[in-house]
Amino acid sequence: MPTTSIDLRSDTVTVPGSGMRAAMARAEVGDDVWGEDPTVNQLEAEMAQRLGKEAAVFVPSGTMGNLAAVAAQTRAGDEVIVDAQAHIFVYEVAGSAVVAGVQLRTLDGFEGVPDMPVLEDAIRGNNVHFPVSRLFCVENTHNRRGGAAVDVERIRPCTDLAHNRGLRVHCDGARLFNAAVALRCSPAALAASCDTVSVCFSKGLGAPVGSAVMGDSAVIDEVRRWRKRLGGGMRQAGILAAAALYALEHNVDRLAEDHANARLIAGVVQDSGALVDPPTVPTNIVLVETPMAATEVAARASEEGVQVTVMGPRTIRCVTHIGVDEADSRRAAEILGRVLTGSGAADR
Ligand SMILES: Cc1ncc(COP(=O)(O)O)c(C=O)c1O
Repeated sequence: MPTTSIDLRSDTVTVPGSGMRAAMARAEVGDDVWGEDPTVNQLEAEMAQRLGKEAAVFVPSGTMGNLAAVAAQTRAGDEVIVDAQAHIFVYEVAGSAVVAGVQLRTLDGFEGVPDMPVLEDAIRGNNVHFPVSRLFCVENTHNRRGGAAVDVERIRPCTDLAHNRGLRVHCDGARLFNAAVALRCSPAALAASCDTVSVCFSKGLGAPVGSAVMGDSAVIDEVRRWRKRLGGGMRQAGILAAAALYALEHNVDRLAEDHANARLIAGVVQDSGALVDPPTVPTNIVLVETPMAATEVAARASEEGVQVTVMGPRTIRCVTHIGVDEADSRRAAEILGRVLTGSGAADR
């Protein structure tokens, strides 16, 4: 077993470096539930500005951000339209059903964007038997769809349709900065046609904790109320907001390195004969189809010092991040290539 391992399980595994920790230690703080934490206030102002929205609220996690945004824009009994592979549907413990009381209606679309006729059909008419279609959600980048970065031209027709039919729109932008860097556009442009957008600091941006939800002032007031109701009102949270501010200043442009490293891994893995889906690898997530059981591939890779996530019976996921440089990526790719072809220990 190698002494150090290359951890490609997720971009959530990063730990703050000395610069970020110093910024956290210096942070001016106050009671944020009373609106008195200057560093949280600074972060919220900066995120509202970066996302082109009136207001922002700092929340402990992406899951809480999504749930508070869903709850703030729906009533119990409403229907929310999401992609079948959306994080909100797959990984958030049915929070929107349990807490907000909404029904999730899933659609299946390329990169998580439904075809227009499919979305059109899914939006319910006014009928006493039906739930009210109230909210349409997109995810950008899309985690379970290989880190797909969805550009404005593809989002806009769906969000226009949703708005014309009276729905609001939420974007789960946990990795929206990855999408913006990959597409060479601003995060504000990607969020422009969405009423609310959540963004995580604790993923590729490398902060230890936290997300933010942006929107107009009225909806963010309501999200803030939901944050408190969910137990997410934090007190001297400026220590965490300082890490997020540091990440915004230092770790956005470098996401391009993570994307390049992901492509590097995908290239070597493809050379070994394995299929990568999508083969283009738009951002920092590489989904690899495994010729043998994915659990076996993950276990063998781990023995060789590379940690990956099992996403399905024959799918593993590798995620690049600030804790993995080009040399690590190259080494990880070689090990994975050998494991995938069953050609034995990488050190031989
Ligand atoms: C697309 C997406 N949305 C939301 C979340 C939830 O974030 P958190 O783990 O901070 O709750 C994740 C986490 O990986 C994610 O990938």
